[in-house]
Amino acid sequence: MTAPLLVFDSGVGGLSVLAPIRALLPGVPVVYAADNAGFPYGTKTEAEIASRVPALLGRLVERYRPRLVVIACNTASTIALAPVRAALDLPVVGTVPAIKPAAEASRSRVIGVLGTAATVRQPYVDRLSAEFAADCRVIRYGSSVLVDLAEAKLRGIAPDPAAIARELAGLLDQPDGDKLDTVALACTHFPLLAEELAAASPRPLTFVDGGRGIARRVAYLLSNTAPVLSSTPAQDHRAAPPASSRAVFTRPSPDVDALRPALHSYGLDEIDFL
Ligand code: DGL
Repeated sequence: MTAPLLVFDSGVGGLSVLAPIRALLPGVPVVYAADNAGFPYGTKTEAEIASRVPALLGRLVERYRPRLVVIACNTASTIALAPVRAALDLPVVGTVPAIKPAAEASRSRVIGVLGTAATVRQPYVDRLSAEFAADCRVIRYGSSVLVDLAEAKLRGIAPDPAAIARELAGLLDQPDGDKLDTVALACTHFPLLAEELAAASPRPLTFVDGGRGIARRVAYLLSNTAPVLSSTPAQDHRAAPPASSRAVFTRPSPDVDALRPALHSYGLDEIDFL
């Protein structure tokens, strides 16, 4: 059997990264891991995330023996990517807030960074802004409401448009927000609300996220690394038939059952608990 990719998030947000990975590499088996026992990450401290995520990924790697790990979570990546890489002896792809593509897309040179509270306060966001958006005004807003709405949407609960509009106002009502034309969705949960965000926008805004860039990076790394448990050449992934994949949660909960139809639509039919 071919070793899987391990795609990790606090919840269902990483599915917005899994979708472009699947589109590019349909035959690759995936273990999608959601730390629902630790959810949400966005309201936690740096110390809590930095101690939880490397230990948890260590357990997941021991159990599933993936060939590559994708931290499909901006909060975990911006805080814990270095300790995770130090702890694991395999390639780890992180999620970078999409400030560079947002700056490239913006005509007004006013961009938004919509992430969790923990992500938008990271020095990493300062560095990305200085490097890729030095001539832009960068407006940040941290939202836990959108994270919860995305989780609920995948459990079949339609998001309240007024609540989405209020969160967008958190960006647009800041100084210079009237000129903002592009929003970096710096939380992997938020692309799951792409239609609702567009519908709630008071004027057309461009939303960008890092999903496809991560998928390209994963494809590149897989084409350069030998499968761990397989004799199949790595280049054969695109031709391989869809392999069985699974979701793993860190705690049983009725919410997990409610997610089954959504997980099925991402090709995740089996569910494990760590
Ligand atoms: N999906 C996560 C992110 O990209 C965080 C959501 C949360 O647990 O607060 O930041």
